[in-house]
Amino acid sequence: MAEKNTDSINVNRRDFAKAAAAVGAAAAAAGQGPFVRTAKAAERKIKYGFIGPGSRGRRLLERHLQFMDHGECVAMCDIYEKNLKKALDIFDGKPTAYTDYNKLLEQEDIEAVFITVPLFMHFPVIKAALQAGKHVFCEKSLVFTPEEVHELRALHKANPKLTIQVGLQRRYSKFYHKAKEMIDAGAIGEITHIQAMWHRNTNWRRKAKPEFEDQFNWRLYRKYSGGLCAELMSHQVDVSDWFLGQHPRSVMGVGGLDYWQDGRDIYDNIQLIFEYPGGQKLQYSSIMTNRHIAGRRVPGDGCRETILGTNGAIELTLIPYGDGMYYPDRMKVTMESQAKEKPPEENWVAGSTVGTDTAEQGEGFPIDPEAVNPNEVGFIEKELFFARTWAYNKGIMRPEESVDPEYAELSSFLKDVADGNRPRADVDVGLQDSIAVMLANLSMDEERKVYFSEIETMGNAAPEMSSTGSGSRAGD
Ligand SMILES: NC(=O)c1ccc[n+]([C@@H]2O[C@H](COP(=O)([O-])OP(=O)(O)OC[C@H]3O[C@@H](n4cnc5c(N)ncnc54)[C@H](O)[C@@H]3O)[C@@H](O)[C@H]2O)c1
Repeated sequence: MAEKNTDSINVNRRDFAKAAAAVGAAAAAAGQGPFVRTAKAAERKIKYGFIGPGSRGRRLLERHLQFMDHGECVAMCDIYEKNLKKALDIFDGKPTAYTDYNKLLEQEDIEAVFITVPLFMHFPVIKAALQAGKHVFCEKSLVFTPEEVHELRALHKANPKLTIQVGLQRRYSKFYHKAKEMIDAGAIGEITHIQAMWHRNTNWRRKAKPEFEDQFNWRLYRKYSGGLCAELMSHQVDVSDWFLGQHPRSVMGVGGLDYWQDGRDIYDNIQLIFEYPGGQKLQYSSIMTNRHIAGRRVPGDGCRETILGTNGAIELTLIPYGDGMYYPDRMKVTMESQAKEKPPEENWVAGSTVGTDTAEQGEGFPIDPEAVNPNEVGFIEKELFFARTWAYNKGIMRPEESVDPEYAELSSFLKDVADGNRPRADVDVGLQDSIAVMLANLSMDEERKVYFSEIETMGNAAPEMSSTGSGSRAGD
């Protein structure tokens, strides 16, 4: 048993060395990563306004933004006084307070805004902000309707210098970047399937007096919310698009409201299959009645993306913290080798070796987001890298990323605004992600396969909308 273990670690050591060597110093390349600071960015402090500091917004302010010296919160807006006060308190009441975001946008010293209002209000606020000449960070899912997809594309075209970033923090995680580098270096061969899930055991309901029901529980109603697709799947379909380097061509699915029949009208369970132009499938599941997840290593929500390739698999999660596993599974018979002449009677023998290697089938190795290229570092750093890898494999230590991806996405936004750089999670990423959310919901509503090309003929008419600070847009 001990011998097997050593072998496995050698496989891991070889594979990591190979993957790391192939990716080289890519992760550290200037301008690519949120973790590389430029002198220029550090010099410039971006004055920003914050709109909608509810649960998400205050998390971003409390945990991250208040500690950044390259940004300064000069204005805060919320229609709900209690949330406004709590957010102002984080900055000792210094930012100017507003209850109408249009008034905040008139404040001239504001260069950028963070938007964390409910989904149905994202676009009206984004639109007003861009028209006021402000750079925009907006939470996912970026927009809510097909009309808004078309209108935001046009707005961006008309204002190309204004930065638009969407809050998809996996794009700023070192675990995810390391996994992507390993995949690009061939560690799992050719990706054929992706499985992603976010399983929870929760009702999502907030306690609210009847008059505040819609405002507090907007997530539960279709007129304000995209349900599980917008709130959870949006993160994971984006990982799939990013890792495959393509967008889906179609989606089909089944959704149900089968357990939480408490007046809400969003689905409480969804099962979807996205198909990509290269034939790859993303199989997606989100439920609200159980968070068990097979083979889970870390305690926490049942959230996972599994990338399945011809030579191995990679599992990733950011819930409750970043974690990644690599499972080698070498394909011994490939299309190429099969095509080469072999006596038919030998084929089944060759086939029986599929999936075997010095690593046991299903044996996994932790991904180190801080892994170095052993060929490019000195002796001590190289030995430390192998020692860390050994400790991770033995379960003595857990790999961690040095920067919280939420911190990284916010910090990176301020730097990109200062430097005029395009963010990783830019407007195109955000729009494509929103399209996937809308079409996934449509496929379940209409019980049919929906093609992504359909978005181009959907909702082209300019939408009628209220963009006042009242928060009322969809009939509340
Ligand atoms: N990236 C992530 O991991 C993540 C996690 C949670 C939430 N989110 C997103 O963040 C957004 C907010 O979610 P939440 O849970 O914080 O919602 P929330 O209801 O707790 O907070 C929304 C806030 O916006 C305020 N608001 C509503 N209309 C407004 C208006 N017109 N002007 C100013 N303020 C207004 C509300 O009063 C409230 O304080 C959603 O889009 C959600 O999907 C993202």
